[in-house]
Amino acid sequence: MPKPFVFVTRQISENGIQLLKDKGYRVVVSKKDGVLTKKELFAAVKGADAILSLLTDKIDSDVLDAAGTQLKIVANFAVGFDNIVLDDAKKRGVIVTNTPSDAVNDAVAEHAFALMCALAHRVAEADVYAKAKKYQGWNPDLLVGTQLKGKTLGIIGLGRIGRSVAEHAVHGFGMKCLYSDQRRQPDFDQEFSAKYVGIDRLLQEADFVSLHVPLLPSTYHLISTEQFSLMKKTAFLINTARGPVVDEKALLRALKTKRIAGAALDVFECEPAIDCDLSDTLELKNFSNVILTPHIASATKEARESMSEIAAQNIIAVLSGRAPLNPAK
Ligand code: DGY
Repeated sequence: MPKPFVFVTRQISENGIQLLKDKGYRVVVSKKDGVLTKKELFAAVKGADAILSLLTDKIDSDVLDAAGTQLKIVANFAVGFDNIVLDDAKKRGVIVTNTPSDAVNDAVAEHAFALMCALAHRVAEADVYAKAKKYQGWNPDLLVGTQLKGKTLGIIGLGRIGRSVAEHAVHGFGMKCLYSDQRRQPDFDQEFSAKYVGIDRLLQEADFVSLHVPLLPSTYHLISTEQFSLMKKTAFLINTARGPVVDEKALLRALKTKRIAGAALDVFECEPAIDCDLSDTLELKNFSNVILTPHIASATKEARESMSEIAAQNIIAVLSGRAPLNPAK
């Protein structure tokens, strides 16, 4: 019997690769330092029993067909799996998995919090200012920010990451917490003295709005012109979820008209482009009250290693005829 063939679309932490090799699988890791083109992906996945994909790989019927009918699993190296057409996989009996873990939750929550602190304390602006040698001496009016303690954080999407953000906010920083989700979570209300509210009320009352929903047809442009119009003028938006959850054109308008106080984005609507081609002159980088990071919220060594291990364990489970640990649903 030939060894099961696992194709990994890009170099990831070695620990997961090693687990797959230890099982005796034939593991091929793409040597390209970048995203494979469709053509490259088609050729590389041919004959694979498992594909370990990244969020930058679009996995649709074409890729699944190029792999062949022996393909059993696509293990995505990410919590989000909006890069995979689940229906196409389901139709072919291919299992799709993702990589939730405490380390990923912590990494993303810490990053969301780093962005929140940076917005409140104007860290990015201050860095630019100091490096430009503009600092001439202490000045009580210089780069005055806003305190987090006592302020209200609005969490949209109370999954594992949203909960971890709340923990930092409430227990670490003395913030108040509102959340909106598909359902109320009474244990959470109690532990964090949190209030379950509808999105409109959350937007009206929060000083910081942090997004933690997956990208679905129902969350596409969840935050658009109408939602910005509800927010306080002093409020900040933080997006570490997926770019298209925010209508970037509406965000630019809200920033230009000072509808909100600022924003921090780790993900972008037209990623990897930082700005979509909006055919006007507004660009995110031109706003000093906007902080941009290049989709690195989960980029800690701990998170990457756990993602590698989980993706490998899902492949091992499925290729051994067991149920996947983290089926994407
Ligand atoms: C995820 O896990 O979905 C992140 O966006 C990438 O690590």
